[in-house]
Amino acid sequence: MEAAFGKAEARRLLEEWTKGESLRKHGLAVSVCVEAYGRLEAARLGLLDVEAEELVERYASAGMLHDMDYERHPSLEEHPFVGVAALRELGWPEEVLRAILAHADYSGVARESHLEKVVFACDELAGFLTACALVKPSRLIAEVEVAGVKKKMKDKAFARAVKREDITLGAELLGLSVEEHVGNCLAAMQARAAELGL
Ligand SMILES: [Fe+2]
Repeated sequence: MEAAFGKAEARRLLEEWTKGESLRKHGLAVSVCVEAYGRLEAARLGLLDVEAEELVERYASAGMLHDMDYERHPSLEEHPFVGVAALRELGWPEEVLRAILAHADYSGVARESHLEKVVFACDELAGFLTACALVKPSRLIAEVEVAGVKKKMKDKAFARAVKREDITLGAELLGLSVEEHVGNCLAAMQARAAELGL
């Protein structure tokens, strides 16, 4: 069964709005991490079958779509508001829209729900883990380890655009240690490495 507002449609929209390879890959990587947290949350809530799958699809979609409008509308005035307005028009659930808004500090939408926290927590980390893979001689995420990621987080010259404090705050919002959060996202990305091209 394919959900009407699920990850297949999210992927289609991401590719419609975003032509750049790296921003598409970023959306996919964040989606993979957020989806993994969705599976944990569905299990924690004791959801089964369709209900669990719907939650997971919403999570994966929020991750996929959080920067959907960034290529066309990168300014603080427009991103992520233009994308959210377009998604609202299409009927996407408010839960997904709020999570997209809440990933931007300046949107005025606080991170309250689990999904809102997860999208924020995975955004910078997915990019950082990708950077950690790409400096391996093999360029494979399979070779990245939690300890190595922690070490690279302290190396200010490495992937300097990635805000370490967002990774740390993200883990804190989820009630996890940085190690646990890195471990969860790393495992999620490693499990779907082929899809991510890593
Ligand atoms: Fe992002």
